[in-house]
Amino acid sequence: MTVIIAIDGPAASGKGTLARRLARHFDYACLDTGALYRAVALMVLRAGGDVKNEQEALKAARKLSQNDLNDPAIKNESTGEAASIIAALPAVRDALLDFQRDFAHKPPGNKAGAILDGRDIGTVVCPDADIKLFITATAETRAKRRFLEQFGTTGSAGDFANILDQITRRDQRDSSRDVAPLKAAANACLLDTTNSDIEAVFETALALISNNLRTS
Ligand code: CDP
Repeated sequence: MTVIIAIDGPAASGKGTLARRLARHFDYACLDTGALYRAVALMVLRAGGDVKNEQEALKAARKLSQNDLNDPAIKNESTGEAASIIAALPAVRDALLDFQRDFAHKPPGNKAGAILDGRDIGTVVCPDADIKLFITATAETRAKRRFLEQFGTTGSAGDFANILDQITRRDQRDSSRDVAPLKAAANACLLDTTNSDIEAVFETALALISNNLRTS
């Protein structure tokens, strides 16, 4: 039986870093599901389309290939913003569901487990996941992490204010949409990373997972 670990949480909560770290530790396959929405958004933007147009976005979602996920431009903040608009469209979410579930249940490379990170993994994509983690941190802390990632020590107070504003808007959009909103599954373990570095979060997650796998 494949082990499935679901990691959900808001922007810059550290879920991607944690997912990759855990995948390395357990030698499991890892899927950043945000990259799927980002890649679809980038395809629409590059074609000069409208990210609010469900039909255009659906066409892009159906054409999505592995290559699109490797494009570095999917990481841009503008792509993230567009991804969060596109991610509210039910047809797009539906079109990406099978890929995510196949990855979870039949991980590439015949790995013994899969780790998926996103917004709705524990609630919609893999409600049957063996372990569900929900990673949070205050908006200010998350904005500070993004700020340091993007500007190092050269950013201004205005740059920080912009990032905090983007993060707050994205939280609001992701949490309030009708389909698959960002929320913790009822049986998820909550991890607040406001005052913890990645090492501490990794150790806590590891203990939770090991405990859970032993008792299941
Ligand atoms: O890395 P960051 O947290 O900034 O964003 P991401 O995980 O790459 O996701 C980009 C956007 O895709 C999010 O703001 C969500 O709106 C959307 N998303 C989603 O709706 N469901 C997922 N499972 C993953 C991402």
